[in-house]
Parts: sequence; C-alpha cells; structure tokens
Amino acid sequence: MGHAAKVECPFWFLDTYCLVLAVIGKRGYAMRQNTVSGAWPRRATGLTGSDGSEYGIDLGFGNGESGNRASIGSRNITTSMRTETLAILCSPREHAALELETNGTVNGEAQQFLVNHQHGLKFPIQDGIPLFVEPHQITGINNRFRKIYDRWAPFYDLLSRVGLYVLGVSELKLRKKFIETLEINPGDRVLATSVGTGSDLPFLPHDCNYYGLDLSSGMLKVCRKKMRKLDASAELFLGQAEHLPFKNDSFDVVYQMGGINFFSDQERAIHEMIRVARNGSKIVIMDETEKVARTLEHIPGINAWFRHQRRPIIPPKTLIPAGMEQVMYQELYNGQAWYLSFRKPL
Ligand SMILES: C[S@@+](CC[C@H](N)C(=O)[O-])C[C@H]1O[C@@H](n2cnc3c(N)ncnc32)[C@H](O)[C@@H]1O
Repeated sequence: MGHAAKVECPFWFLDTYCLVLAVIGKRGYAMRQNTVSGAWPRRATGLTGSDGSEYGIDLGFGNGESGNRASIGSRNITTSMRTETLAILCSPREHAALELETNGTVNGEAQQFLVNHQHGLKFPIQDGIPLFVEPHQITGINNRFRKIYDRWAPFYDLLSRVGLYVLGVSELKLRKKFIETLEINPGDRVLATSVGTGSDLPFLPHDCNYYGLDLSSGMLKVCRKKMRKLDASAELFLGQAEHLPFKNDSFDVVYQMGGINFFSDQERAIHEMIRVARNGSKIVIMDETEKVARTLEHIPGINAWFRHQRRPIIPPKTLIPAGMEQVMYQELYNGQAWYLSFRKPL
C-alpha cells in the first residue's frame, strides 16, 4: 500500500528528513554512477522498439558478463529463462505462444528474444528480464506513474517504511499478515502483478515459485538487488498489469498490492488476474484509501504526484465479475487501506 510517505503538519520534520535523505542518497548515487542526478545510467542496449526508438533497461550488471549468468557481488543470479517459465509465457496482447531465440550479441552478451514468427512478435530479454512493453505503448496515467516510480525507485523502500510508520502501521507486520492471507501452499506459483522493489520477498515461503511483473524498470532494478541481498529467487517481467504475458490458468495465487488505484484500466487488470489464475485460486488486491491519498496531497514534493493528476480512489468492488466466489471486502488500518479477495471458481 502507499505510493509514498505520508506526512502531515505534526510530522513535517519527518517529511523533511525523508527529503534530505533522498537528496543525499540521490547525490551519492549519482556520484557513484558518474551520471547526472535524476537520470539512470544507461548503457547501449542495442534494442530498437517498434516505433524505431532505442529502448531497454539497465539492471546494473554492466559489461563483463558472459553467457547467461550475471555476476553480482558474491553470488550469481541466473539470467536464463527456466523451461517451466517459458511454458507459461505468451504474448501480452494476442496470447500467442513464444519461443526462445538467440540472435547476435549486445555488449558481448548473447541477445535473447521471445518470438512468435507467425505474428511477427519479438520481445527482448535483458539481464534475464523479458521486456513485454515498450515505452511508447504505455499511455495515460500508467505512463505518468511509470516515470514517477522509475525516478523514485531507489528511495521507495525508505519512503514507504517511514510513510507507513507515520500512518501508525508497521510495514513488517503489514506485509507478514498480508502474505499469510494469500494462503500459499508449498510449490505454488505466485504472481504479483506490480511487484515493485520486491518488498514482499522476505515474507514469502521459500518453497513457492514467485513471479513478479512491473511497469517500472527502476523498481525492477531495485528488486534484483534485493534478491541478491536476500538470496531470494523470483522471475521478473517488465510489462503492464492490464496485458499479462502469461497463459490462461498458470498461477495458484495472484495478487496486487499498492498499484491498482492508479492503473489506467483497473477492470482489465482484474480480468487479467482472473484469466491467468487457475480454477480455485485465491486472488487478492489491496491499496490505500482516498483518505490517505488526500493526506499525501499536502506534502511538498509528493503532492505533485497526486494533485490534479489522479482520479478519486474508489475500491474496485463492482469490477469483480459475477461468478467469483468467497468475495470479501474489508477496510483495514483505521480506514487507511482497502482489501479485496475472492476465488476463481473451480
Ligand atoms: C506503490 S508501488 C507498490 C509496489 C509493491 N507492490 C509493494 O507492495 O511495495 C506501485 C507499483 O505499481 C507499479 N505499476 C503502476 N502501474 C502499473 C501497471 N499498469 N502495471 C504494472 N505495474 C504497475 C509501479 O511501477 C510500482 O512499482
């Protein structure tokens, strides 16, 4: 929950503290990366989008990697596509089957693609992350929030922890409790449709297979770093929750936390969650309420994210299609968050 830290007048010092930390952190980061403040370092990706522009994401592994393993610190993260993962992938719009193809090299690395020749589709894989959306395909409020999250990704964890604390919510307790409600069983395939920086990773059972999709390459980059720190494994995808690159009936649990309030098309995102869930699967959605968003609008810096730029938050109860089972809606944390869960019928 929460797109950023919430701080009101009595807590103005915390807001200032966050902003100062953010500025110091950002300057330090920029100096380390030898780049201008505010811009992510980019290396040549060699990827050209369908509109002719160059695109791609830099997950920070840099040059000197070879094969399909990227050496990061003391351990390796596999950047090759697992066979089980390939089996559940499809193109996000046509739902066409995809094959893995290696074609040339970029920065000395073999360049892999997911392709469907019949439909003329080609999705690059960068640092193990398939790119299922190009920047020019992201429109409306999704584009606005993609830019915001890309920019703020390095500070997201700090801001969300402090923000929740100020709201009287322990992030650790919230995430632990939230993950428990997903009722994950050993071996389950679990999908988060806006995984962000992977803040749920420490709370997931070790024996589940975790898949995370997000619209922001900046957030995925932080998530990859966290995976390394925690020695956690997950498969990540750059894409839009409204067009999931997975075949029907692929997951045992599908959830979404903290993003859906401002998705361009909430109804489509919910239908996609249902489509990719297996029959009987639990689907859970949670986000902040209007009460929290209004408070955020008073915070210098953060207010620019919200003011005049968003629609009012209406929990999407009425968007759950008829026929779903065990539909449950609750408001939590003193009306600061809404929680919606249901099951796809068997
Ligand atoms: C407040 S963050 C929540 C991240 C994470 N779920 C958490 O609990 O910390 C919202 C996330 O939603 C992602 N997002 C926004 N719109 C999206 C969309 N249409 N499809 C996929 N991800 C989206 C953002 O990039 C961001 O990472």
